Amino acid sequence: MYISKLSLFQFKNYETLEVEFEAKINCISGENGAGKTNLLDALHYLSMSKSYFLNTDTQNILHAQDMMMIKGNFCMNGQNLAQNSEENFEIYCAIQIGQKKILKVNDLVYTKITEHIGRFPMVMIAPSDQDLIAEGSEERRRFLDSLISQIDKEYLQNLIHYNHYLSQRNAILKQNTALDTTLIETYDKYLLNFGEKITQKRQLFMEEFLPIFQKNYDFLTQKKESCHFEYKADFLLKDFKNKYYQAFQKDVLLKRTTFGTHKDDIIFFIDNYPLKKYGSQGQQKSFLIALKLAQYEIIYQKKQFKPILLLDDIFDKLDDFRIQQLIKLVNDETFGQIFVTDARPERTAQIFATIHIKPAIFTIENGKLIP
Ligand SMILES: Nc1ncnc2c1ncn2[C@@H]1O[C@H](COP(=O)(O)OP(=O)(O)OP(=O)(O)O)[C@@H](O)[C@H]1O
Ligand SMILES: [Mg+2]
Repeated sequence: MYISKLSLFQFKNYETLEVEFEAKINCISGENGAGKTNLLDALHYLSMSKSYFLNTDTQNILHAQDMMMIKGNFCMNGQNLAQNSEENFEIYCAIQIGQKKILKVNDLVYTKITEHIGRFPMVMIAPSDQDLIAEGSEERRRFLDSLISQIDKEYLQNLIHYNHYLSQRNAILKQNTALDTTLIETYDKYLLNFGEKITQKRQLFMEEFLPIFQKNYDFLTQKKESCHFEYKADFLLKDFKNKYYQAFQKDVLLKRTTFGTHKDDIIFFIDNYPLKKYGSQGQQKSFLIALKLAQYEIIYQKKQFKPILLLDDIFDKLDDFRIQQLIKLVNDETFGQIFVTDARPERTAQIFATIHIKPAIFTIENGKLIP
C-alpha cells in the first residue's frame, strides 16, 4: 500500500498543501518547527482517524481557524489482489469545532469510525515513543491495544465494551449515595467476561510478538545485548475471580475499580534488568525501533500487504552501525512506502547514498513542500 497524493487544509501549521509522493522512500527535511512531524501526523490521521500526538481532534486545527481537512489518495497493491492490479482509495477526514468528525473512504461516510481501524495501516516511529518506556502503564496498554485492534476486530469490540462497563462501574463508586449493589454485580459479570477475553488475547499476542521483536533487536544491534518483555495482568493470576471480588472493599474506599484488565502492563528488560533504569539512551531507542519494526512485521503478516512506515527523526542517538543496520533493514523488499524526516537533509542523503539509494527529497519552506 502507498499514498500517492496528500492534500491538507488548515491542518496544524499548514494552511493549504498539495503534494505527490513516491511509492518507495520519501525524505522530508526542513528546519526545526517547519512542519515535518506534522506532515507525518497528517498521514497517521488518515490511517487511524486521529493524531499520533494529540488526544483532542480540534487541537489539530490551524490556530484561530475552526475547521481542518486531510485528504489522501491510497493505492493498494497487496498480495491478496490479482497480480499487477491496483485498487485506489480516497480517504477524507474533516474536523469542525462543535461538529461530529467526518471520515469517508471513496465518498462513503463511516457510521462507526472504528470500522476504519486496520484498513490502511501505518507504523510511526517518533521521538515521543520514549514515553512507552518512561511513562506509566497506560502508554504501553495504548500501544498494545492500538496494535491488536488493527489486526483483530473482535478485540477492539471487547475493549470498547470493557471500557464502557468500567466507566459505568467507576461512576457508581464515585457517587456519594448508597451503592447500587445489583448494578455493581451486573457490571462485575461484564468486566470479568470481557476482561478475561482481552487478557487471553493480549497474552497470545505477546507470545507471538516477542520472538519477532527479538529478531529485529538482534539484527539492529548484532546481539550486543539481549532484550525481552513480560506481560503482567491481574487476570492472569491464579484465582483472579476471587481476587477481583476481594478488591471490592478497596474499590469502595478508593472510589474506583482497582483490579482488572485496565491495570495490565508490559515490563521491558535489557539483559534481565529493567530497561527504564538501566538502558542507555541509544539502547532504549533501539528497543523502541525493534518494537515498532515488529509491529510492522506482524501487521504485514496478518494483512498480507505492507503498511506505510513513518520514521520521524529516527537517526538521532543511534550510532553509525545501528543506523546502517536500520537502513539496510528498511531497504529490504519487506518494506513498502517509507517517510523519513530529518532536520539535516545532508545526513539522510549520505546515509542512503551508502546503500546506493536515491530517495525523493522534499524540503519544507513556509508551509510548502518543495521537491
Ligand atoms: N494547531 C496548530 N496551528 C498552527 N501551528 C501549529 C499547530 N500545531 C502545531 N503548530 C506549529 O507547528 C510547528 C511544529 O511543527 P513540527 O512539530 O511538525 O516541526 P518539525 O519540522 O517536526 O520540527 P523539529 O525538527 O523540531 O522536530 C510549530 O511551529 C508549531 O507551533
Ligand atoms: Mg519533528
